[in-house]
Amino acid sequence: MLYGEKNKETLEKVRSVLLDFGIKKHEGMIPKYKLNKTSIDADTAKLLIENQLLDEGNSRQNLATFCQTRMEKQAQELMAETLDKNAIDKSEYPQTAELENRCVNILADLWNVPDDGEYLGTSTVGSSEACMLAGMAMKFRWRNQAKALGMDVRARDANLVISSSYQICWEKFCTYWDVEMRVVPVQPDKLTLDLSSVMDYVDEYTIGIVGIQGTTYSGEYDDIKGLDALVADYNWNHPDRPELVIHVDAACGGMFTPFIEPELKWDFRLPNVVSISTSGHKYGLTYPGVGWIVWRDRKYLPKELIFEVSYLGGHMPTMAINFSRSASQIIGQYYNFLRFGWEGFLLIHQRTLQSAFHIGSNIAETGLFELYNEGRRTPIVCYKLKENARYKDGTPVVWNMYDLSDRLRMRGWQVPAYPLPHGAEDVIVQRIVCRGDFSFNMAQAFVQDFEACLEELKHAHVLCNEQKSGSYGFTY
Ligand SMILES: Cc1ncc(COP(=O)(O)O)c(C=O)c1O
Repeated sequence: MLYGEKNKETLEKVRSVLLDFGIKKHEGMIPKYKLNKTSIDADTAKLLIENQLLDEGNSRQNLATFCQTRMEKQAQELMAETLDKNAIDKSEYPQTAELENRCVNILADLWNVPDDGEYLGTSTVGSSEACMLAGMAMKFRWRNQAKALGMDVRARDANLVISSSYQICWEKFCTYWDVEMRVVPVQPDKLTLDLSSVMDYVDEYTIGIVGIQGTTYSGEYDDIKGLDALVADYNWNHPDRPELVIHVDAACGGMFTPFIEPELKWDFRLPNVVSISTSGHKYGLTYPGVGWIVWRDRKYLPKELIFEVSYLGGHMPTMAINFSRSASQIIGQYYNFLRFGWEGFLLIHQRTLQSAFHIGSNIAETGLFELYNEGRRTPIVCYKLKENARYKDGTPVVWNMYDLSDRLRMRGWQVPAYPLPHGAEDVIVQRIVCRGDFSFNMAQAFVQDFEACLEELKHAHVLCNEQKSGSYGFTY
């Protein structure tokens, strides 16, 4: 063996040992905010990034997010193999387009779309894009109808009615599209859409009302059936105005309620619900980001919003805002549908509910908290500290919800504390989201840690009891 070759071999060995120990010769030499001048080898690049990400929270212990944090190995392989497919290239990837089409059909069926309509839908990057599309469709349709009725559509901004428990994407929609957001405040003891006042916010410039099937704040459902009845009444009494419609933002409930409460009418069984959106990466059990929207009939999606892309020598309609993106999440979503089927989804969701309820009931049992959601219907636990709360032995509570979040964080659990929305903004809550990958064992471990934190706080010297302002942790 030539000296040079041996030397090279030794260097390789040294390099791999260094790599094994996470020692990188480049560390500290590579600029962080400018592009490095020269290339580095792939292993080192990977290791450097892996090490950088090490101290980020463990996603499985992140009880702040609704987003899926675990998929099966087979799904991961499939998704990794299909990362290169561009979802918009329908003619290059017609089978992928077919899988997307199947998903839309599966969802339309789960949401009880009527047989007599010509429904249509699409995948999106997430619920935010889907809500944006829903809002645009409502605005365009309202404008077309208003013009036809001879209204002056420029006299003032069109408006959208929604409860203050809305997710930020609706504020974005209203800002981007010059729509006045009419917010129905929630009450400290009721965090869903107030049906007794919602119609006071509606007029002939209303493009639609958004009902939320699983609010971001507490996971509770708006009463969409009650809302549908009010809207039916309104339309009956105002034949001279643009038709009032409902969009259901079912980011959380869209792939949960159909399995757990199939008899609950919140979907296309209600005649005034014209579109429904959901996040595939929430209870659709797929990694982020994938979302879906379905319109009950193509008349609710004005044709100005439909563009044609070439497809197998012909044309295919597309209505997404985004153009290029990987199709792997769509394929991951279809994998879940195929793999789990109806029974699988039901079992997974039932198990998740069981975990949530275990946590919710144990939190209630401490006697320190009032619960908005105990995890019975949706796998979300949401609670506030009781006024003048006392431990069972009479010790007064001197800490607040932010202190409790900090304590839980020390044990690895990420549980956000944040103020409730307009109408109940003085109330600070914590919210725990249980996901499909949150097993009962994990729920038990969490309860143990939660109780230990309460005990620690009882004896802790809480230095500053001022409430931190703003939200603390993620509220998506
Ligand atoms: C009710 C609601 N709508 C919309 C969204 C936005 O969803 P995405 O993160 O999929 O864009 C969320 C996210 O939590 C939500 O809870």
